[in-house]
Amino acid sequence: MTVTVRVPAKVNVQLAVGGVRPDGFHDLANVFLAVGLYDEITVTEADELTITCAGPDAAQVPLDATNLAARAALALGARHGREPRVHIHIAKDIPVAGGMAGGSADGAGALLACDALWGTGAPREELLDICAELGSDVPFSLVGGAALGRGRGEILTPLPVGGTFHWVFAVADGGLSTPAVYAECDRLRVASGTGATSADVPDPEPSPALLEALRTGDPLALAASVSNDLQAAAVSLRPSLTATLSAGTEAGALAAMVSGSGPTTAFLVQDAESAEKVAAALSASGTCRAVRVTSGPVAGATVL
Ligand code: C5P
Repeated sequence: MTVTVRVPAKVNVQLAVGGVRPDGFHDLANVFLAVGLYDEITVTEADELTITCAGPDAAQVPLDATNLAARAALALGARHGREPRVHIHIAKDIPVAGGMAGGSADGAGALLACDALWGTGAPREELLDICAELGSDVPFSLVGGAALGRGRGEILTPLPVGGTFHWVFAVADGGLSTPAVYAECDRLRVASGTGATSADVPDPEPSPALLEALRTGDPLALAASVSNDLQAAAVSLRPSLTATLSAGTEAGALAAMVSGSGPTTAFLVQDAESAEKVAAALSASGTCRAVRVTSGPVAGATVL
């Protein structure tokens, strides 16, 4: 028997980063939006746990037990007294190490797929608990749509969205390490004299204007209220992102931002027609490796 699950990428329309906590994570106000770029995770019964991956960036995907898909199968198996004897195939379309939760998508997808393959029937709460153990962004990959993430991003509240938002994504050459970007954010804060702990940095809060823009589905209002506290750190580590952001703005994007910890850049546009124009301009600019056009919100991990 085989089960395939489709899981979307995400963009953070607000990523407010609080001080570094004693456990090394940062408290967040993280507004996630699931967008229509997908990985497909297929699990098949096998003699032992193995992973394969196909797609343009497949060579950069680890095929060992560090892959979140493998860790998901192990975690679900451990809770249900089951050896994870599965082959996991990842058809990868989400940029790797790009700030779009591609690894998290594979974790959530493998978890849902193994649950279906094994007939575990784990309640949603248990699946969300396992997702939170796997990583801060994994619960959102399961849930999709739009949600506010508190804590380190794993405590989710679904958000109402009154329309479809159109996006262009510029994929950079190579990835950025999420821990390195958070560390650079801390370093920049200390260097500017504010300090980086919870005593120094205000508690992160969701923007009321941004939540209202999502609720009404208004792209101009959303463009005016998006923010990403990791952007300066991502640009500091990858200065060439400045040219990509400028190219999108000059081409008429309503907002230009780094997606999560980067280095993918995200451009909010008015509609599908302007998405094509901005995408063509970004492609011609020579400032990125690939350009993707999509929209959101879309549903979370779904068994096909
Ligand atoms: O949770 P996840 O494994 O995806 O986090 C990867 C790394 O990103 C963490 O080890 C930490 O360095 C950083 N991080 C953080 N604060 C968060 C989420 C992630 O500092 N809220």
